[in-house]
Amino acid sequence: MKVVALVCSARRGGNCEEIAERVLGILGGRGVETEMVRLIDYDIHPCNRCDYQCFREEEVCPIEDDVPLIWEKLRRADGVVIATPSYYGFLPATFKAVIERAQGILNWVTVEFRDLEAVWRGKPTLVIAVSDGGGEFILQYLRETLKGAHIISEHLSYTELGIPGYLGGLLRLPQASSRVEEMAEKLYERLSASKDLSGDDDP
Ligand SMILES: Cc1cc2nc3c(=O)[nH]c(=O)nc-3n(C[C@H](O)[C@H](O)[C@H](O)COP(=O)(O)O)c2cc1C
Repeated sequence: MKVVALVCSARRGGNCEEIAERVLGILGGRGVETEMVRLIDYDIHPCNRCDYQCFREEEVCPIEDDVPLIWEKLRRADGVVIATPSYYGFLPATFKAVIERAQGILNWVTVEFRDLEAVWRGKPTLVIAVSDGGGEFILQYLRETLKGAHIISEHLSYTELGIPGYLGGLLRLPQASSRVEEMAEKLYERLSASKDLSGDDDP
């Protein structure tokens, strides 16, 4: 069983990375294989200079970068963690680029990999948004976009927690830390339940 954590922040060692590390640490302790995917470590481009090649059977998206690799990791994962900040009320542009490029990659990577639902259907997915503003909107967007995923979500609001979020170190607050740990437990329960149902070890 494998869980991939997408860290959507543009900085290293911030709240999102710490949250993903904490969740993966808990899952790793239960024998789950884990992988951290920091979007800043990958070459990611949005749709650009496009002639809708991806809509035509005989053509492919001309962009060569790491986005197909990221989709392949997501497709193969049994569960996903998305740790994201709000950047001006939405997910960072790197995440949005990964989503919009799905259109061109779904036909490209494998034939059965045709739409977002093929990647997310039934997949336990923990989304944790950190922000003052925009967190709830991000959660709503992801619930609508990751079609068919079993989403468990949490919004950690800096105002509510009483600290300026840009400083990082959110998990030093016991209440933030325990909420993240609780979410990790819920994800583990959901993963265990979905594995019992499918018995499938190699998606
Ligand atoms: C470009 C940029 C835009 C941001 N916009 C918002 C925002 O709209 N709302 C908010 O609550 N925080 C905003 N922030 C603050 C981040 O959400 C906060 O610093 C968060 O902790 C970043 O995640 P990290 O700690 O993993 O780097 C913004 C930060 C950056 C760098």
